[in-house]
Amino acid sequence: MRKIILTLILSLTLVAKSMADEGMWLPLLLGQQVYNDMVKKGLKLTKDQLYNINKASLKDAIIIFGGGCTGEIVSAQGMIFTNHHCGYSAIASASTMEHNYLRDGFYASNKGEEIKTNLSVQFLLRIDDVTKEVNDSLQGLTGAERVKKQASVIASISKRMGDDSKNIETVVSPLFKGNQFFAFVYQRYFDIRLVGAPPESVGKFGGDTDNWEWPRHTGDFSIFRVYTKPDGSPAKRGESTDANIPMKAKWYLPVSIKPLKDGDFSMIWGYPGSTNRYESSYGIKLATDINNPSLVKLRDARLKYMFDEMKKDPAIKLQLASSYASIANYWKFYDGETKQLLKYDIYGQKKAFEDKFNNWAKGKPEFENLLSDWAKAYSDWKPYAKLRMYMNEGINGSPLIAFASSLSRLEDLLMKNTPQADIQKAIDAASAQRKAFLEGENIVSDRNILAAVTHLFYTDIEKDQQPVGFYGNLKQTYGALDDDATYKKYAADIFSKTMILDDAKWNAFAAKPDAGTLQNDPAFYYASSFMKSYTSKYASLFQQFNAKNSEYGRLYLKGIMEMDPAKAQKMYPDATFTMRVSYGNVKSYEPRDAVKYDYVTTSKGVLEKYIPGDYEFDLPAKQIELLKAKDFGQYIDPVRKDLVINFITTNDITGGNSGSPVINGKGELIGLAFDGNYEALSHKLAFDKNLNRTICVDIRYVLWCIDKLGGATNIIKELKLMK
Ligand code: ARG
Repeated sequence: MRKIILTLILSLTLVAKSMADEGMWLPLLLGQQVYNDMVKKGLKLTKDQLYNINKASLKDAIIIFGGGCTGEIVSAQGMIFTNHHCGYSAIASASTMEHNYLRDGFYASNKGEEIKTNLSVQFLLRIDDVTKEVNDSLQGLTGAERVKKQASVIASISKRMGDDSKNIETVVSPLFKGNQFFAFVYQRYFDIRLVGAPPESVGKFGGDTDNWEWPRHTGDFSIFRVYTKPDGSPAKRGESTDANIPMKAKWYLPVSIKPLKDGDFSMIWGYPGSTNRYESSYGIKLATDINNPSLVKLRDARLKYMFDEMKKDPAIKLQLASSYASIANYWKFYDGETKQLLKYDIYGQKKAFEDKFNNWAKGKPEFENLLSDWAKAYSDWKPYAKLRMYMNEGINGSPLIAFASSLSRLEDLLMKNTPQADIQKAIDAASAQRKAFLEGENIVSDRNILAAVTHLFYTDIEKDQQPVGFYGNLKQTYGALDDDATYKKYAADIFSKTMILDDAKWNAFAAKPDAGTLQNDPAFYYASSFMKSYTSKYASLFQQFNAKNSEYGRLYLKGIMEMDPAKAQKMYPDATFTMRVSYGNVKSYEPRDAVKYDYVTTSKGVLEKYIPGDYEFDLPAKQIELLKAKDFGQYIDPVRKDLVINFITTNDITGGNSGSPVINGKGELIGLAFDGNYEALSHKLAFDKNLNRTICVDIRYVLWCIDKLGGATNIIKELKLMK
């Protein structure tokens, strides 16, 4: 009897172990097996409390924030918590040199002081399985035909399930690489206001040096609120009027200020953007050999020139901060991804699995040539991969050139017999876009970027892939092509002569637009030389590669599921920026031999890292004073006798999850997820269950910043604290 129980317990733990904490589960497909495992790990809520489309459930508190992040509702009046880096551009836009909320922080002391933004958020109403409808219409189609048909079926379902009058938008997402299709029905709310944010020195403490790293000490949070029309319906774009009222929330998360222990249950809800866990070995090799190093090299140059100007002048810092942060974030990510992919030989691991697949596929016509066909698709595309990266991250990495490229539609219209009214419309749109472009434009850094990337393109890209005649002309007019000075002179000329940067010239063009003037503009000439060369010769090769890649990827996954049906039962779909839940534990880890990382950081570490006047590690005087005095109030951790700043969990998340709630077994908020750790930066392509950690800001630190540092007790009072 005892023995039976023991084997039972043993086999149960084996199941739990093999499921590790990998997995971004669809709330709709949360099978009994996964749910039971969550309960075993510490979940106390019923399935219905998690996801129900007929009555309020936890999923109603989880939102898409601003189109690329996650947020959560934390009060009955629609208050939102998300990350500081998710609110960053809204906070920067609300700031001026006189009221610099990015630098100094901001808390509305009543609703009247909350600041309108351009943001919108989306609530998920329901998820529908539309696999049959899509697959029926795709019967027998392959390649480009299939891609086209799939897009049109998806568009028609989205249209049928949408309703403009209620801001209801439907997105059909291909899951399991297009083996299944689910419709996600959202309602969008436009009137979103800024309620509060800590100073940047807290919200982005550690800057790019600490980004993607543990141990961490960042207060990465910001606070917003959803407003609705007086009848409770969502405002439309531009309808942020004073008559609007705070949203009456369907569900909101209570906030726990109880202590955390190593091993505590944690679940994270949110919108992971993309993963590719069944990428082929060929894809891994393309990333490590070409795509990632190219991106990193070009971003290195762009970031350097931006930073040079940001250092000189606080107004430029404010102007470029948001764009700099997002370029820097994925610069470090892709650099780290390459290093980890190589270190753990992910290529070799994929290759070994592909050998196994090939053995199984022998004699099965649908699969036996799949991997060799896939290899060929990659080798056909590989010679042009660098060119594509240099177009996207280099040539269009100059903001002026990216804007100039966008004028090519206008050129088309001017070249054709277009009715005057349509031309006028296009000119008006271009003038509006030019205005927005100029607000973000820093000429000195952009000019340096343009010179640098033009030189890099010349040095690094095959001569026969360069725009015909372009560099020859450059040499004749400006000098030797191996000399930096040549490119500097050229860039200076473009910037001093283009009408894009000259109001008088632009207005004259806008009053009497003609194709010749546009084509002779030096910035437009530059942009269109590169773009036309790329689109006429290489864009279609990329499209073909893409179509093949997705077709072979879909078949590969189909094959893997057929090869091991038991495993298929336990598979989760790759991230597609759709709502997912991941579960795991608060947990320490060992990044390398003889090093053990604790699962929390404390205020002691904040003071250790503090460097007065530093760009990344400075702190507000009041913060130092309060921390030194150990004035932690009710937010103190009784075990550590200190203020806990950040903690780590084993949850499986990725970019898009930023701002996601970290929730305990009872459905209470314990933190906000804001980053992943360096040792697991290959997580998009391969999940490492020993090393992968999610970095979270402890909710008690968030509340301490609001209450003690910010004095915003009005915000604390609105929350439901669980002590
Ligand atoms: N790595 C974080 C993410 O992608 C962003 C952190 C922002 N902080 C920064 N220093 N750039 O979600």
